[in-house]
Amino acid sequence: MTYLFANWKMYLHADEALELAKQAAGFEYDSEKTKIAIFPPMISLSEIINELKGSNVSSGAQNVAWTPMGAYTGATSALLAQKAGCRYALVGHSERRYVFHETDQDVRKKIEACIDANITPVLCIGETKQEKETGEREERLKEQLEIALREMDITSSDDLIIAYEPVWAIAGSGTGEACTPQDVEEVHDFILNCAKALTGHDHPILYGGSVTSENVVSYLSLAHVNGVLVGSASTHVDSFKSLLEACNKI
Ligand code: PGA
Repeated sequence: MTYLFANWKMYLHADEALELAKQAAGFEYDSEKTKIAIFPPMISLSEIINELKGSNVSSGAQNVAWTPMGAYTGATSALLAQKAGCRYALVGHSERRYVFHETDQDVRKKIEACIDANITPVLCIGETKQEKETGEREERLKEQLEIALREMDITSSDDLIIAYEPVWAIAGSGTGEACTPQDVEEVHDFILNCAKALTGHDHPILYGGSVTSENVVSYLSLAHVNGVLVGSASTHVDSFKSLLEACNKI
């Protein structure tokens, strides 16, 4: 299975997001081989879930609160996302960690909330440029995985997806300079083993950070790269379609 997950961040107005979702719902692809999910701005989520009904395209939340319900102004919980029809939720995206100051402990609580709400978490991890340059990459990734997953009851490999997104490689919030395929291969192997030691399963691992229709094949053809989490290149119909065409060829 190849995962093509589209993180639309805060890039699209509601009418633009709905239009793009409509087009994505009409994409032709083998859903046994490729899994597409759209993570739209929260304000568009219900409308998009409605639009995607009857198609093979799933949807997810870009972020969730860890507590199910209550007096939490501005928050949307994993439970509310699940009730609205979300299948997935991004947890610990680097923009949440570094712009909104979410901690590893917050990330753990969100993973727990997703599992309780029966929504599949996409745990995002990644090192900063400084951690990479000082040789602390593996240590940081291991720490993020351990805090998020230690003694977490995850019953099967598909109940958790991991996304490796080096903070520096993300367009807009990072440098936009993509990670080399050689590095991605090495890091994915490391993540696979660390996660397996924690949960006992081989979880799908996606790469994210400046993925485009030009470089996507160089990642998807690597061992242990089960898909991609794409931001800006998934927000235009032509490049979204080209990404899908590349996945179809794998
Ligand atoms: P990008 O974002 O593809 O725009 O670099 C990826 C992500 O942050 O999920």
